Amino acid sequence: MHRGHVFHIAGSPTVTAAAGALVSIPDGALVFDADGVITYSGPFDAVTVGGGTVVDHRPGFLLPGFVDTHVHFPQTFAGDAYGGGQLLEWLNTCIFPSESMFEDPEFAAEAAAAFCDRRIAAGTTQAMVFGSAFPHAQDALFEETLRRGLRVVSGRGVQTTGPDSAKSLVTTEHDAVRLVSEEIEKWHAADTGDVDTALLHVAVVPRFSLSVTTETLRNLGELYDSVRDRGVYFHTHLNENNRPGTGEIATTLETYQVDSYLDTYDGKFLPGSAAGGKSFLGRRTILAHAVHCQDDELARMAETGTSIAHCPTSQQFLGSGTMPWNRTVAAGVNIALGSDYGGGDEFLLSRVLGDAYKVHISEPGDAGVSLHPAELLFTGTLAGARALDMEDRIGNLDVGKEADFIVVDPAKWQPLDDLMRRGIRSVDPDMARDQTLFALLMAMREPAITEVYVQGRRVDSV
Ligand code: GUN
Ligand code: ZN
Repeated sequence: MHRGHVFHIAGSPTVTAAAGALVSIPDGALVFDADGVITYSGPFDAVTVGGGTVVDHRPGFLLPGFVDTHVHFPQTFAGDAYGGGQLLEWLNTCIFPSESMFEDPEFAAEAAAAFCDRRIAAGTTQAMVFGSAFPHAQDALFEETLRRGLRVVSGRGVQTTGPDSAKSLVTTEHDAVRLVSEEIEKWHAADTGDVDTALLHVAVVPRFSLSVTTETLRNLGELYDSVRDRGVYFHTHLNENNRPGTGEIATTLETYQVDSYLDTYDGKFLPGSAAGGKSFLGRRTILAHAVHCQDDELARMAETGTSIAHCPTSQQFLGSGTMPWNRTVAAGVNIALGSDYGGGDEFLLSRVLGDAYKVHISEPGDAGVSLHPAELLFTGTLAGARALDMEDRIGNLDVGKEADFIVVDPAKWQPLDDLMRRGIRSVDPDMARDQTLFALLMAMREPAITEVYVQGRRVDSV
């Protein structure tokens, strides 16, 4: 039994109802069974089940593990890379060359270990991981993830066209499909053999529309359609950089001659947005960024159950702009959170939530919004579980969920400790609670995350 200040978003609210679903139990307890399923979550003095030894973390906090819905494994060593420009220049100058280094199996294995270390340090218990082009690197990622006891959804980044700098990442059309199929057969639910209990899952991941061809989209669409009912995921980038004329969105619309960027992922990738193949959209599809969407793109994502990985840290680093929060929420699309490391330069999702807070309060005019701390916590946890269609298993600390949680000890990070002890608090108890959660999320740093649990098992950095 773990004892501490429990914070989580209970039930299954949408983001606009998150504040009403915020649970804060200053002297709380979390109990789980031998399978790592939560059997009690509530006040310590009301524990109704046998909980064994009490591990007292007070005055520390118990939070659900963070869910990072967009992070790049082959960019583990490519954070804070200066490319002298926005997305396309940065890809060309820094990212394609960095990712090419994963051709060396030893380098890739070191990166897999470092990537898992970063995730554990940051309390990221589940992640949609944009993978390496190289199958041996993906093997290293899945093996290391399994060894550490973490969860992951990942797939090799598919490129069938690109500039010279991406040469070693590009494959033939035939190999693109073959390698993705092989990855699915080798790793999808490989740990338990059952997609509903597995910690490892595979996604189909074309890098973005500009890295593939209409033939790739058609072939991967066929493949995805054939594995959808096995719980395979789809992941890519959408509407990130809107520099006029030469940016990602303009180039995509020009290359494909389509009405909207989303059409290229929705089977309508032929000129005039004519149908050319199967759609990738659905409940296991996460599209990163979606900063500059047309209304009908948002409506189509909402209608299909497709989620957005919102990546404000990366959007600042690459000058991609700010996803309009209220407009995107109003469209009914689920918005989860992504570090987008190395486009972002923070693995720690509470730092990314801090950036979300800052960019959305700074939106122009009436669009500016001060996100509620519960909405922040929701976006970094339960919305991620929903985006992964895993809300029945993870995302909060409700009874029946798998016990993925982190322990935060303010004493291990002096600035946080000071804010917890000496920060201003309202006389109104609800406002005081919200102020504590807000300061906790904004001021938390890796050293304060002292323990990380997946399915009730502690995971370690070594
Ligand atoms: N679009 C295509 N590839 C990438 C990438 O690696 N990072 C980001 N942020 N956007 C992309
Ligand atoms: Zn990305």
